[in-house]
Amino acid sequence: MTANKRLVLSSDHAAIELRRAVAQHAESLGWEIVDIGPQTPESTHYPLHGKAAAERVVSGDCALGIILCGTGQGIMMAANKVEGIRCGVCSDTFSAKMIRQHNDANMLSIGARVVGEGLALEIAEAFLTAEFEGGRHATRVAMIEPAQA
Ligand code: RB5
Repeated sequence: MTANKRLVLSSDHAAIELRRAVAQHAESLGWEIVDIGPQTPESTHYPLHGKAAAERVVSGDCALGIILCGTGQGIMMAANKVEGIRCGVCSDTFSAKMIRQHNDANMLSIGARVVGEGLALEIAEAFLTAEFEGGRHATRVAMIEPAQA
């Protein structure tokens, strides 16, 4: 089980409405939502929002994070530059479940211009309700991290 049930959410301008829908759904699943915006629709820069959300996760403030942009790809790339983040873009529920079970992903990215709201909510739920299986997967996940000096 994750240490806490705080979920950080962030996006760029392309995904504000979907981010709010995901937040509402996650809250209904018992998650405490930490929505770090943006709240207004002006064009913005997805790397800023991916990094800010990732920092909430690696600091331990939030157990997991969900980030969104048009494709989900750019914001995922930014989040994965933060050491300790394992973030996957998912457009299907199977992958969203497996990145938790096998990869111990601590962030999920969704493309608001790729999937509709109904599927996005199912993807988020699959991610939020799956648990890391450990064992042989823990060995492999440890191999992803940079070597310690
Ligand atoms: C913004 O137009 C778009 O480039 C962004 O939301 C995202 O798709 C980038 O990966």
